[in-house]
This record gives sequence, structure tokens and C-alpha cells, in this order.
Amino acid sequence: MGTAPIFPGENVCGIIGYIGNEDAAEILLDGLKRLEYRGYDSAGIATIDGEHISIKRIKGNIALLEKVLEEKPIYGKIGLGHTRWATHGQPSEENAHPHRDCTGTIVIVHNGIIENYLLLKEKLKKRGHRFKSETDTEIIAHLIEEYYHSGVVHRSCDDLEKAVRRALKKIEGSYALGIMSSREPDKLIATRNGSPLIIGLKDGNYFIASDVPAILRHTKDIIYLEDGELAILARTGVRLYGQNGKLIRLERRIKRISWDVNMAEKEGYPHFMLKEIHEQPRAIEDTILGRISPDGADIHLEEMALNKNKLKKINRIIITACGTSWHAGLIGEYLIEEIARIPVEVENAAEFRYRNPIITDDTLAIAISQSGETADTLGAIREVHQKKGRVISICNVVGSSVVRESDAVIYTHAGPEIGVASTKAFTTQLTVLYILAVYFGKIKGTLNAEQAKKMIADLRRLPQKTEEMLKQEKEVIKIANKFYRHRNAIYLGRGKGYPVALEGALKLKEVSYIHAEGYPAAEMKHGPIALIDKNMPVIVLALKGSRYDKILANIEEVKARGGVVIALATMGDRKIKEKVDEVLYVPETSIPLSPILAVIPLQLLAYYIAVKRKCNPDQPRHLAKSVTVE
Ligand code: M6R
Repeated sequence: MGTAPIFPGENVCGIIGYIGNEDAAEILLDGLKRLEYRGYDSAGIATIDGEHISIKRIKGNIALLEKVLEEKPIYGKIGLGHTRWATHGQPSEENAHPHRDCTGTIVIVHNGIIENYLLLKEKLKKRGHRFKSETDTEIIAHLIEEYYHSGVVHRSCDDLEKAVRRALKKIEGSYALGIMSSREPDKLIATRNGSPLIIGLKDGNYFIASDVPAILRHTKDIIYLEDGELAILARTGVRLYGQNGKLIRLERRIKRISWDVNMAEKEGYPHFMLKEIHEQPRAIEDTILGRISPDGADIHLEEMALNKNKLKKINRIIITACGTSWHAGLIGEYLIEEIARIPVEVENAAEFRYRNPIITDDTLAIAISQSGETADTLGAIREVHQKKGRVISICNVVGSSVVRESDAVIYTHAGPEIGVASTKAFTTQLTVLYILAVYFGKIKGTLNAEQAKKMIADLRRLPQKTEEMLKQEKEVIKIANKFYRHRNAIYLGRGKGYPVALEGALKLKEVSYIHAEGYPAAEMKHGPIALIDKNMPVIVLALKGSRYDKILANIEEVKARGGVVIALATMGDRKIKEKVDEVLYVPETSIPLSPILAVIPLQLLAYYIAVKRKCNPDQPRHLAKSVTVE
């Protein structure tokens, strides 16, 4: 593979599949309704009746799909359904799943991202395949067709299973797949690599789904597929093959789920906020996917839509956003200035839009928004455009207003964020800002090849480090249990730790209603130090780095005034234990990536304190998920 393409993938969509003795359409539609809470922009189902395939797809909500099916019902006792939440490629009927091959006999639904899809698409086009959508998913159907219909697999028998196995060998990226063919209408194939997929079993009725709620009404007996496994579902039973191609005994793998529907939507977590905190390793991984060249030497950001010569001429960057996204921007300033040596200004969008900002030819504006609907951020984009400037947005929602009004967009692949408090959106925004800083560093020549490679290698290890960070959860809970009765808290940080302190304080105040403020640690002696006493917990970001000694001095200042210090320290830093009251350890990573790990214990701390205080962290009072008014 020469270049890593941008990808119109769907990594957080919903899958349902059914084979059995009942009417499939009804089961599929019900399953999709139960996945609605995840967010989606289009949906579709396909069934096979005899050898006849019927497909209905819509852009919009399931109610519309239901209406279409009421008017024109489709029949069959086998089928696949999908809700799509576009990550690239506009939400549209053509891009909605299920997708088919040229002959229309192979039907597939897919979650995940096919990284080498552009290359495969080109090859398949040359071989005469015609594509109807912009998705990466469709290439899988055509690839299976290559082996299935050309006789490559077997001249005399139509063996979908073998064709699928051959096609999978060509695919790079992540997937959960449901596949069926009208030439073998008694079988449903399910396989996964990096995207979740489950099988449900109930006396002659078998299901596949991306999430438990989709099938919980029918069965509580579930098999969680593992990467590389492939299952053949028929009315007579399920065959499950391991990565090595060997049959696996089903009994060992069946799990009885005890969740109710409410718990199942949150995958067993009590709140969306906690679920989303735990999704961060996956979300970061998805945000990185396809943006690093296979040799790990380069960053690919084709989405930038500005050619490298124009980018070279950029001498000033303005980042604008609100709330948590603004905090991400503040960290972006440190990253871009340090790595690419381009001067950056960061401004709250509500302020920026009304102060007649100066935008010159060599200025690039970056707007950051999870929802893409924040009124003030949109206002800031319009202000830049009015002054003939260019705006790149970092956004999580395809087709949102911010995306439509920007000149280019770099998507975070966090997936729908349902909890009002932003968590995985923030860490994926930081991931994009880091990628952007390295990208600019290479263009501007501030990074040589070796330095860039090292930074990319650090980035690749980040999802794993994030997993390690989450393993400290029990320690966070202990601290939350000790401190939840306090009424105030101060968060201190230096350098990139300062915006992390702001974000930690924002998380605490919005979900637990404890008054919390973030300060640059050195600023404390200019006023806030007057607040320090034994009732004031001070959370200090004290990770190893260039200003470590200075932050230790700040800790001494707090302790000398009777303050209680909770330190966030680098794993292995034993010395700090003697100086503070509590320590939360953060796995070691490179300094530019450390904010991404450091914010996670602060998210968890806010969450557990809120729960102890009997606050609902998913829906804090007076707050809305997207602030569409000024
Ligand atoms: O959707 P946006 O990122 O544009 O939203 C901006 C803020 O409203 C948002 O980040 C808010 O501060 C967080 N939800 C707080 O956790």
C-alpha cells in the first residue's frame, strides 16, 4: 500500500442480523430501534425471500424506515439491518447500509474502517466493478464478488464462506461484518476484527448484533466474537471458527447476560459518562487509524483540502471553540507552537466573534467542536469568513453546521457522545491536534524525519497507554470516596498541564456541582492562595517534565498553608508520595501526549464524586449537549 487513504468508514454504527423461523424485517426493525440511543443518520435493512433480495434504506430516522416498510413490506426469514453514523461521506440513502456487489446477490453491513479501501477500489474498478456509494464498506461486497462469482473459490459450488475468507485477507483496518447471499439463502456470516460483534442464540433462531440491546428482547444467551473469528449462522445452528480456522465448541463461549435494557444500552456501565470514559482507547485508536503511513514515517491528512504550498505559507493560527473544546484548543496551542513553531492564539469563540479580530492572508483558523452545532463557534467561523480567512474544523459529527461552513474538516472518530460532559470527544480532539502539529512540523521543516517517526511511534502506543491509565480506576474511586463531601476544589497545572487543570475543574463542577477552579500553578500566589486551608483539596498536575521542580515548589506552598494535595504523578515517581496527601499515577508517555492521559483520572474523579453525591452525571442540571444559542 502506497498511501494511507482517508476513509469514509463507520466505526460506531449499529448492526443487527437474523436467521430463523420468524419474519426477519420485524425483528431487524425492532433491533434497530433499540440501537437508536447510540445516534445515527441513516438506516437500512435487507431480507432474502427464496432467492429474492429486498433492500430498504433511508436517510433519517427509523420511524421513516418503518413508514417505508409499512407501505412496501419486505419478506424473508433471514436479513441484515444497520444504523449508520457517518464519519466521512455524507449521510445519504446511497451511503446507507446494507451494500451490495455488482450482481446484487451479496449483501453486507459493516462497522469499522477499511484503511486500504481506496487502493482496493481502484483495482476493483479496473476489473469492471461499478460502485454506487462513497463508502469503504461497498468494496468488501465487490471483493467477495470477485472470489465468489469468478469461480476462483470453486468452479462448481457457490461457497460464500470461502469467498469471504479470501476477501478478508485483502482488507486492512477494522470491521464487524454481517454478510449474506441470495445464492445461499440459508446462511448468515459474521466476522470481526477490531469492532465489536455478538451472536445471540435461541432455539433455531440466531442473531448477530453490534450491541446487546439490539437482541436482548429475544435472547440473553450471547457469544462475544473475538478478533479473527468467523461464524456461520444457519437455522440448524451456529458454527464458530477461530482465527486459525479450527472449529470452536460453542458451549464454552455462551454467556448468559443478566442486564436489563437500560443497562445494556450502556454496555453494563451505570452511566453513559463512564461508558464513554472507558471507550477512549478505542476512540483514540479510531482517530489515529488511516492517518499514519504504513511505514510509520508520515501523517496523512488528505481532509485538509489545502495544498502543502498554501500550508507552508501559514504563519499564524487562531484556534477558536467553547467549553471543553476550547480547553483542547489551549493544549493545541502548546503542541503546534512547540512542534511546528507556528504562532498560535486561542480564543473562546463567543469573545472572538465580537472583537473584530485581525485575519491576514497567512492566518489559518481552526474551529473545534464536538457537536458541530455550537452557536458561538459557528459565529466565529462566519467572522473569519467575513474577513476572507480560511477555517479548518475539528469536529465529531459529519454533516453538522460547523462542518458545512468550514473550508475543510478533520474528523475525530469518537463516535456519538451521549453524556453531556465531554470526555472521549476531548481526548480525540487532542489526538487530532497532536497529529496536526506533527503534520505542520513536517511541512514547516521543524521536525526532521527521525523526530517525526519517533512522535508517530509515541502516538501509536497511546491507545495502549490509555488502557493502562484506566486500570487506575480503583485508586480514583478511593480518592472520590474521601473527598466527595468538600464544597470547593482547586486544580493547578503548568504548561500543557494548565488547560488540563481547567478541564478537570470544569468536569468536577458540571457533574458534581462542587465549585472548582483551574489555575496556572504559578498564578496561585497572586490571589487564590488565600483560599488554601485544610478544607480545600488542591489537585496538582505534577507529571515528570521540564517544569517538574517548579510544580514541586508549588506543592510545598500549598502544604505550608495546611492545604490538602492530590497529585497526578508519573508512574514510578515515589518521591512525590512523601510530599502530598494522595497520588494518582499516570503511565509514562511523551510530554506532548501526556495531557491525553492526565485528563482521564480527572474525568473519573469528577464522575465518581458526582455519583457519591447522588448527581446524575449524564444530565447535569441546566446543561444541554449542544449549545445552539448564544
Ligand atoms: O459541541 P462543542 O464541542 O462545540 O461544545 C462546546 C461546549 O459546549 C462543550 O465542550 C461543553 O463545555 C462540554 N460538554 C462540557 O463537558
